[in-house]
Amino acid sequence: MAASHADMNHYWQQPKATSQQHNWSALEKNMRPEACAQCHESQFNDWKQSLHAEAFSPGMVGQFATMDHGSGNDCLRCHAPLETQLFDTAQAMLASLKTLRKNPIGINQDADLQSQQADLPLRHSGVSCAVCHVRQGLRFGPPRLGSDVQGQIKGDAHGGFIANKRFEQSNFCAECHQFPQSYAINGKPLENTVMEWQQSKFSQLGKQCQSCHMPERRHQFKGIHDKDFTRQGLDIHTVQKGEYIALSITSTNIGHAFPTYVTPLVRIHAMALDVQQQTIKTWHWDLVREVYYDDGWQEKRDTRLFPDETRLFMPTDIPEAAIQLHFQIEVKPDHFYQGMYQSLLEDDMQQDAQVLIKRALKTSYQRVYILYDEVRKLP
Ligand code: HEC
Ligand code: HEC
Ligand code: HEC
Ligand code: HEC
Ligand code: HEC
Repeated sequence: MAASHADMNHYWQQPKATSQQHNWSALEKNMRPEACAQCHESQFNDWKQSLHAEAFSPGMVGQFATMDHGSGNDCLRCHAPLETQLFDTAQAMLASLKTLRKNPIGINQDADLQSQQADLPLRHSGVSCAVCHVRQGLRFGPPRLGSDVQGQIKGDAHGGFIANKRFEQSNFCAECHQFPQSYAINGKPLENTVMEWQQSKFSQLGKQCQSCHMPERRHQFKGIHDKDFTRQGLDIHTVQKGEYIALSITSTNIGHAFPTYVTPLVRIHAMALDVQQQTIKTWHWDLVREVYYDDGWQEKRDTRLFPDETRLFMPTDIPEAAIQLHFQIEVKPDHFYQGMYQSLLEDDMQQDAQVLIKRALKTSYQRVYILYDEVRKLP
């Protein structure tokens, strides 16, 4: 039964079935992350705070009102891809708008299997444990820590597991974090993270996606939405260049472009201050890959920072009255979506969809943060 999957060659092929005929306990057969949590608590506690747990999101589901159900399932290919997470019918897809509206929290934080939330369809748990670890009821995972042994491993629950080293490699993430080259816009697919990584020193050093995003196998999946995580990937400081001051940013520990997606915007602000601390002149620069839709996707600009690259941001033509420069780096992780949600809300919308998109817009504002802040005296 496991043979077709044991080599993992077809692991990401549709449909990703979890159905099974094992004579295990109900708990071992249960595909909910809350069930896995009964025995794998530490993975659950990290994962539930990650965006993978929120992938069945109001910003996505709010768009289903105007889609056919095939297109909805296309989105779920990355956001909730198990066979049992997909929509059977268009009605099921439309009903999901109301269900999500009424149940804003997809997974039950208390891991209580008896609670009402445990009755929500499995798709509410998004990119959940079973998406990455279960096919035909069988568990797949990396070899035991410190071991190289692959294949069937005995264990005290769910028939043990099938160990495979692919779990430790970047390609494991490619199915959802890399588009094929045939989708390229100006030479680069909209999602190009794995390729960017391959071209960086990190692939030569053997540093995989997991090395940074799952340190010590922890299921945190932190990214640009996390200020401290983003900060430790960069070296940022001011430098004096003759009579000028510049902000220097180097990408030291990011395994791909900063940012890797077309959705975030990183804006560097500089402000000239006078003796009264009043702002008398401002400058700004963006790190972004900006695309727009006009008879297909088009690229407007790509100013992102690549691994090991250093860039200087230097205000010039500084007014005489200025005595200080104030530098700030602002990060808008969901910048592209903010614009999209706003334009959706300008039109008449189905009522549940409108509530969901408003919720997504509000969250996207709450996620904006200041990454760096420094005031320097002018020489
Ligand atoms: C009744 C307890 C129990 C439940 C419920 C359970 N597991 Fe396990 N799991 C275990 C045990 C025990 C092992 C074997 C650990 C070992 O010997 O290294 C294991 C092993 C694993 C492994 C392999 C770990 C490795 O080293 O690669 C994965 C992956 C896994 N489980 C995933 C899951 C997922 C996903 C779920 C929910 C769908 C789940 N388990 C539910 C007890 C459980
Ligand atoms: C190839 C995988 C893939 C497919 C297919 C996909 N997404 Fe996503 N989506 C992602 C990833 C990865 C992110 C996180 C990175 C980002 O912000 O772009 C994301 C983020 C999002 C977000 C912002 C975060 C959130 O959940 O609120 C929305 C909204 C979204 N997708 C909607 C959609 C919709 C609608 C579709 C179908 C038309 C879709 N996605 C299809 C991979 C995918
Ligand atoms: C996006 C995919 C993904 C999701 C979702 C995910 N995992 Fe994992 N998991 C992995 C990968 C990849 C590894 C191996 C990491 C490595 O080797 O660095 C792993 C490792 C593990 C291990 C072995 C840990 C160890 O210390 O040896 C267990 C157990 C496990 N996962 C359980 C879970 C459970 C339970 C959930 C849900 C709460 C979950 N995983 C969600 C991808 C995932
Ligand atoms: C050397 C460490 C490192 C490696 C290797 C790495 N990342 Fe990242 N990643 C980061 C840091 C730091 C951030 C936060 C800054 C940023 O967004 O670029 C990040 C951000 C992200 C984001 C957030 C979205 C965005 O637009 O930036 C995603 C998604 C992501 N990484 C996926 C991956 C995948 C997939 C791989 C493997 C192909 C990978 N990362 C390899 C460090 C790393
Ligand atoms: C089944 C599809 C799928 C797989 C496999 C997958 N991801 Fe994701 N990932 C997503 C989606 C969808 C999102 C966006 C969730 C949202 O916000 O709606 C995401 C978000 C993320 C983020 C959050 C970035 C941010 O903006 O802060 C990181 C980091 C990440 N993934 C890393 C990984 C790594 C590393 C792996 C491989 C071990 C992996 N993912 C495997 C679908 C996937």
